[in-house]
Amino acid sequence: MPHGPHYLNWTLVTVLWTLPLMKLVRLLANLGYGSRKEVQRLIRSGAVTDDTGKVLGENGLPPHECIRFRSEPLDPPFPLILMLNKPDGYTCSSDDPGATIYDLLPGRFAHRNPGLNPVGRLDKDTTGLLLLTDDGKLLHRIIHPKSHCLKVYHAKLDRPLGGHEGALFASGELLLNGETKPLLPAGFEALGKNEALVTLHEGRYHQVRRMFAAAGNHVTSLKRISIGGLQLPPDLAEGDWRLLTTEELPALTCSSATVPHSVAADLRWKAKL
Ligand code: URA
Repeated sequence: MPHGPHYLNWTLVTVLWTLPLMKLVRLLANLGYGSRKEVQRLIRSGAVTDDTGKVLGENGLPPHECIRFRSEPLDPPFPLILMLNKPDGYTCSSDDPGATIYDLLPGRFAHRNPGLNPVGRLDKDTTGLLLLTDDGKLLHRIIHPKSHCLKVYHAKLDRPLGGHEGALFASGELLLNGETKPLLPAGFEALGKNEALVTLHEGRYHQVRRMFAAAGNHVTSLKRISIGGLQLPPDLAEGDWRLLTTEELPALTCSSATVPHSVAADLRWKAKL
């Protein structure tokens, strides 16, 4: 076994020499390109280059935006935030044996570390705006009722509205079946005989469907159309996704969101805090 200053020098040289490689392996593995072993193999095969085509491995690491995997730019680093127009029939769970929202994204997104999670799940048969992020702090800020981040849903109903829904939902006293804590006041706006917008500050299990059930109706289709100040873009087709732009991010500092029909419920909600 070698020992003494010579041995220490060689160890130091080896560590320094392999540091960029280790960093690259960790980066790609955390972005979901493969296990560390698989990624090491890919790097050795020359799949990872810089933007001039120089194979990366043992030499210094260029900035993230200059790294290419099989000639394609790398996925964005942490923090990633994207919006998906969720179609009917997809669950928001990563371990569901059926169709999941992760089937609509590049496969490696399901293997990122930290993991990419939906910001407030939608039911399998709810469609519309779904955000996903790997930033746990941002996720909690958006879903926590105290963040005041309003979510607006468009509900279509089996039976005509009764005229009592607005007062019931705004009361702050509606108790859902099997629960002991009343719902926070919610906004309501009738859009026609059989459809309405509902604005929520919280996200309880099947909340909108159970609210209408409590009002004696049945939701036949449900779509989330906005979160905070962020609307579902009309040009984002069902099943499509895209990254949030830097301009869109402030819309998620939710206190700035204004949704006219929710104002009354909003004020009552604030008074409860
Ligand atoms: N309320 C529901 O009932 N379902 C959803 O998916 C979201 C809100």
